[in-house]
Amino acid sequence: METIFVKTGTTLASQIYNCPDADPVPALDAILAGYDRVYAVADSLAAEKCPCAGKIVEHLSSKGCPIFGINASEAEKSMDTVLAIASFLMEQGADRDALVLAIGGGITTDMTGFAASIYKRGVRFAFFPTTLLSQVDAAIGGKTGVNFLNYKNILGVIRQPEFTFLSPSVLLSLPKEDLLCGCAEMLKTFIIQDDGNYQKAVSLFSALHQGVHLSSLLSEISALVGASARVKAGVVSRDQFEKGERRNLNLGHTFAHAMESLAMENNIHLPHGLAVGIGTVLAAKCADSLGLSDGSLERRLRTDFNACGLPVDCPFPLENLAPAMYKDKKAAGKKVHFILPEGIGKVVVRDMTPEEAVELIG
Ligand code: GLY
Repeated sequence: METIFVKTGTTLASQIYNCPDADPVPALDAILAGYDRVYAVADSLAAEKCPCAGKIVEHLSSKGCPIFGINASEAEKSMDTVLAIASFLMEQGADRDALVLAIGGGITTDMTGFAASIYKRGVRFAFFPTTLLSQVDAAIGGKTGVNFLNYKNILGVIRQPEFTFLSPSVLLSLPKEDLLCGCAEMLKTFIIQDDGNYQKAVSLFSALHQGVHLSSLLSEISALVGASARVKAGVVSRDQFEKGERRNLNLGHTFAHAMESLAMENNIHLPHGLAVGIGTVLAAKCADSLGLSDGSLERRLRTDFNACGLPVDCPFPLENLAPAMYKDKKAAGKKVHFILPEGIGKVVVRDMTPEEAVELIG
């Protein structure tokens, strides 16, 4: 099993285990044996819909591990759920030696990490992510938190998990749309740092889109998940608190967040990962217009993302994006950091007003 390290300075902050085994229980068990008291927080739906997650929950329960089920949704990504997790830990008598293991997607890992970070001024936590998106992004890097007053992830802390356990087996039962959301974040990661993985990922997801079954590509996807985790672990090791390089991970996200907020206003279904894919194509268009790339990057990404089954067109009039990029009216006219790809494997930061960015894509 590959181990990837997140090191901040000289300190080992977190470990990422990329487990290739069809049955991840023995490997997870061996890691958990190093902890005296483990408490689990599991997304009830993930445990029900994902046989692999269900098996882990059942196994932990049979070993006497207390388990708290939550409903992981954006609406319930709130302080109320964090307080419910804290109540569970208190009722169970969890002490400072506790390890809180989250089993679920990004919403579950974000909330559990936050609850553990403030419980008794911080106890250890670990993640067993059950979606591709959380494996390549949310469960790595220590961003935890909840939504508040209609702002996403506005309350939270950056604190590293003890470990993140990646198992490709959870992906077998993942709905196609969830797989595509993770695909978009993975492609985004390889556009930031390629090492030859971008094209491999495009080929793999194109094959899946053409109907090849994931079970026959499990070791390939596991290798790409590991490669993507290595890129993110490296970035986080160098810039844990997002003062510089970590901003690169927001490639496509400024456009994506604007689209997501318009989608919410208009009651349109637009999951985060799909918005990131479209946002990355728009960022490439900006780069083409500014002469930062060879002028054909947007066309290339459109072709590649399309082949993978990702949407590539903004579902809203482009002129609506700029106002949606401002978090509040007072920010109007201010420059924001746009991460723009110069090619596959290299991005730069450009500070522009949202209006300037939208003009480049219009
Ligand atoms: N999701 C971007 C980051 O963790 O920095």
